[in-house]
Amino acid sequence: MSKIAIMGAMPEEIDPLLAKVENINKIEYAKNIYYEATYKGKDIVIAYSKIGKVFASLTATILLEKFGCNQLLFSGVAGAISPELKIGDLIIATKLCQHDLDITAFGHPYGYVPEGDVYISTDEKLRDIAKEVAQKNSLKLKEGIVATGDQFVASTERKEFIASTFKADALEMEGASVAVVCDALDVPFFVLRAISDSADGSADMDFDEFLESSAKISADFILDMVEAIE
Ligand code: ADE
Repeated sequence: MSKIAIMGAMPEEIDPLLAKVENINKIEYAKNIYYEATYKGKDIVIAYSKIGKVFASLTATILLEKFGCNQLLFSGVAGAISPELKIGDLIIATKLCQHDLDITAFGHPYGYVPEGDVYISTDEKLRDIAKEVAQKNSLKLKEGIVATGDQFVASTERKEFIASTFKADALEMEGASVAVVCDALDVPFFVLRAISDSADGSADMDFDEFLESSAKISADFILDMVEAIE
């Protein structure tokens, strides 16, 4: 039986989900709230982790290990790196990396630690479902590399470092840590983000202005995917 985890990082990223799902059962665990629910007859568990890689890893682990979810969809907002991406545009991650992981002092590449990988790929079947949903709803959907780090990026210098080092198209603060957890536990996962800002000097103001609207664009798409998942 399929049980789908849907994760966001912030309340704004899961509120549009909670507004549409049914049969909500709220459970408190490990200082966070998990919402068991159903959508179009499917069992789901929704939670927001709080911002950053550590909280996201904790929440992803709990969704899989305590709630028994057997696939995980992440929904939220991101800063654009690719000039193709404008505010409100959707991007799905082909693979994710940690842009702030740095043991280059020992001769390793950025984003790498021994026994890990620089990039972790998302599930191809879930990406195919996303493409079908986009086509059906005539929505533009970009596929690309998403870079994650415990930093709100608001400078062209840092953004350019991430672009050139990782060939990333968008950046955020949770995806790659969720990828590490799902990869380790062999659970298919998927990361969708709608652009809230361009990770430049006006990122903080744009983020505040567009967080809610972009988070809803992502959440609405995720629910269409839940409906399409077999
Ligand atoms: N999420 C959305 N915008 C972001 C940014 N500029 N930096 C990090 N995470 C983000």
